[in-house]
Amino acid sequence: MKEELDSILKEAQEVKNNIKSLQDLENFRIKFLGKKGLLKNILDKIVNLPLEERKELGNYFNFVKEEVEKIYKELREKLEVGRFIKFDLHHPGRKISKGHLHIITQSINKIINIFSKIGFDVELGREIVTEYENFDSLNIPPNHPARDMWSTLWIKSQKEKLLLRTHTSAHQVEILKKKNPPLKVIIPGKVYRHEATDARHEMQFHQLEGLAVGEGCNIQELKGIFSIFFEEYFGKKLEVIFRSSYFPFTEPSVEVDIECVLCKGRGCEVCKNSGYLEVAGAGMIHTFVLKEAGIDTNKYYGYAFGLGVERIIMLKYNIPDIRLFHSSDLRFIKQF
Ligand code: PHE
Repeated sequence: MKEELDSILKEAQEVKNNIKSLQDLENFRIKFLGKKGLLKNILDKIVNLPLEERKELGNYFNFVKEEVEKIYKELREKLEVGRFIKFDLHHPGRKISKGHLHIITQSINKIINIFSKIGFDVELGREIVTEYENFDSLNIPPNHPARDMWSTLWIKSQKEKLLLRTHTSAHQVEILKKKNPPLKVIIPGKVYRHEATDARHEMQFHQLEGLAVGEGCNIQELKGIFSIFFEEYFGKKLEVIFRSSYFPFTEPSVEVDIECVLCKGRGCEVCKNSGYLEVAGAGMIHTFVLKEAGIDTNKYYGYAFGLGVERIIMLKYNIPDIRLFHSSDLRFIKQF
């Protein structure tokens, strides 16, 4: 009977290599380890032997059975792993996390969309501009005290003096020259100021310039455009007020305030209890600028505005600190 056990083990080891599927494996199990299998068959015989022989063969039987079971287990593991990788089409895949546009980009797209609906075209300009574009063309000659309004980052350059634009107004004359009135354009873009950083200020931020020139352009239209824009952007009608101000390139100049979106004009921390929030600089385009662009100032008027993009995003989503935008904190970014 020992020989019989040996040949069972030998056979199991030999057929091992022929087992290629789970069905083959099941046949293997039935043949060797099943209830009517070879091993069970031999065990029935061993049970009926005299005690001494039974003990000896019993031990050997257990050894062979364990060996065969080992082969079975190994084969099953191998086949099941293979089956998973190759055939289980229902196994759920790993989710690929997708990125999305940054809240600033999303918002600029939205702002552009609103202005397009009220007839504005989009123009873009370079971030490095000349001293003439950023200042002189806008009625800010060298040594004019108004240059202090924009802490400028100058660029070392050989011929012309270059700088990182401090405002998108740097493109006014260039665009007015290129397009014939009547015109309505917006110019979104990054601007740079050499300033200390805090919760409300960054060295780099975004502005959206608006420019309109035509025979009938006036300050009421400008105010109307702001009312429409803010109502669309914030999703509710907000009071807009013009506060008298000064810019060398607009006359008259105004600072645009809107009713505080958070406290609805009642007064809170964000609006410093005034009930209003400053969101843009604006005014009627100065004749100096129109003339610089070769526009007939007896015929045409224009208005311009510069909107602080981060400012209105912060108000819309109640973001307390401008530095969060570029903090690369995913908890912040993923919210939008
Ligand atoms: N360029 C001005 C600024 O950056 C804003 C402005 C734009 C004011 C257009 C008037 C007209 O502060």
